[in-house]
Amino acid sequence: MSPTPLIKVPVITVDGPSGSGKGTVSQHLAAELGWHFLDSGALYRLLACAARRDGVALNDEAALVALVDRIDAEFTLSTGGTERVLLDGEDVTRALRGEDTGNAASQVAALPAVRTALLAWQHRYRRPPGLIADGRDMGTVVFPDAVLKIFLEARPDERALRRHKQLKEKGIEASLEEVLAEVRARDERDRTREIAPLEPAEDAHIIDSSDLDVDTTVALILEQIHTII
Ligand code: C5P
Repeated sequence: MSPTPLIKVPVITVDGPSGSGKGTVSQHLAAELGWHFLDSGALYRLLACAARRDGVALNDEAALVALVDRIDAEFTLSTGGTERVLLDGEDVTRALRGEDTGNAASQVAALPAVRTALLAWQHRYRRPPGLIADGRDMGTVVFPDAVLKIFLEARPDERALRRHKQLKEKGIEASLEEVLAEVRARDERDRTREIAPLEPAEDAHIIDSSDLDVDTTVALILEQIHTII
């Protein structure tokens, strides 16, 4: 008897800079297809929160790697789309989304051993019937065999506006100027770091969403998805 061929669970990756809309778009795609959803940025953010809680320095690579093994995280999404995140039983939902946590996340994300330590955690999200993976290096490093790779771009001013709106909706105060400065600083660090820099995979489809709303962007991607599955 010939062996059954191993069929890999399909993954669609959505990478891009902060505020490009990839999170919202990815959640819509996952809901539309009935697939799992990985918000990989949330894992880096959780690690940054755990480091702050335990007094671990953001450049202490060995201590951060050890922390990855100890973290017990729980993500839940209500049917209305409200997320709740528990870190070792403590509700960190609000702290997780703050710009200071995003900034700390991008510092730990620049450390090679931290990225390696987070690989297995991210791979565990690949479960049937499929996965929508949102991040910076989903198509280039974590899931290079994805069936479709999207890279979402948007102008920095537009991305700052979107981030500002999102933060306001979550009750987090910040001026637009502050958000624009944070977005630019974080992008600069993410794009220029030596390991897994933010860049489109060679086979990625690049979409500029500056002048597109969420529904139009989702529809454009679904069109591409339906040509392959
Ligand atoms: O996507 P989000 O803004 O939540 O990500 C926070 C930070 O985590 C990013 O600025 C980036 O430095 C890092 N990150 C990463 N690789 C990913 C996802 C996020 O380096 N796949």
